Amino acid sequence: MILTTRLLHWYDRHGRDLPWRGTRDPYRILVSEIMLQQTQVPRVLLFYTKWLRRFPSWKILAQASNADVIRAWAGLGYNRRALMLRDIARHVINRGVPKNEKEWLNLKGIGPYTATALAAFSLHHQTFPIDTNIRRVAGRLLLGRPFPSPSDDDRLRHLATRLLASSPTRSFDVPQALFDLANANCTKRPTCITCPMIKHCLAAKKFLSGSVRVPKRTTIKANETIHPGKKYPDRIYRGRILKRVRETSQGISLQALGHLIDPTFRPSQDQTWLAAMVHRLKKEDFLAIKNKKIRLG
Ligand code: ADE
Repeated sequence: MILTTRLLHWYDRHGRDLPWRGTRDPYRILVSEIMLQQTQVPRVLLFYTKWLRRFPSWKILAQASNADVIRAWAGLGYNRRALMLRDIARHVINRGVPKNEKEWLNLKGIGPYTATALAAFSLHHQTFPIDTNIRRVAGRLLLGRPFPSPSDDDRLRHLATRLLASSPTRSFDVPQALFDLANANCTKRPTCITCPMIKHCLAAKKFLSGSVRVPKRTTIKANETIHPGKKYPDRIYRGRILKRVRETSQGISLQALGHLIDPTFRPSQDQTWLAAMVHRLKKEDFLAIKNKKIRLG
């Protein structure tokens, strides 16, 4: 049995029934892909349908205020994604839905992976999206690399594109099946012995022989700043600031905010750090400040 036939056969029986898989609507697919950036599937499932009820179309989302989208995004983290999604909706309303990968890529906030995913899942173009999960699975399966890196992507894309051509009517299901394989067997420490692709996989023998050393950490988080003396990166405290502000209807003062986001907050040392985070959030349109009270933007 050829590789894609085996993969799709497994996917048909064991694939996850995820709500964004039953649609080709670019809006619904984009919402899922943006939510799935940096957030795991089970958590996205808690928010996806709720978001679509609140903002069922490009048009309704385009009309939403910053505060509306930040509230609806609450709990997903990386709030920047909510404003970006709304801005994309405004662009689509003004200029129409992009017609191919290149046009999607022109939009602010859409990277190469998301542009390719939209072309594959919405337009059914024969193109192969590579995110960290797909890279790991396809890099093992097709290249025999136990821990593939972005420098393998060109070779991977080349091989995978040929593979898509071998199942032209279902090329869009190949990456979807790989997401599920990444979740079911092909995790960081894969369970090759029960993997449906064991006979096809160029890395399985290496894992099964015990010769592969699993690195402690395969990715290093880029651009994270940790303030001296603080336990978490600023991203976490920024999230807490937004959460607190979201929960108050009358706004909140900078003085009150300190202890609410960090029980070890010491005004004499930490006030400047807090004020800088609040001002950055204001500059990024998450927050507004009126009469010294901080509110959602
Ligand atoms: N991660 C990113 N896109 C995904 C999708 N469509 N299904 C499952 N996981 C994903």
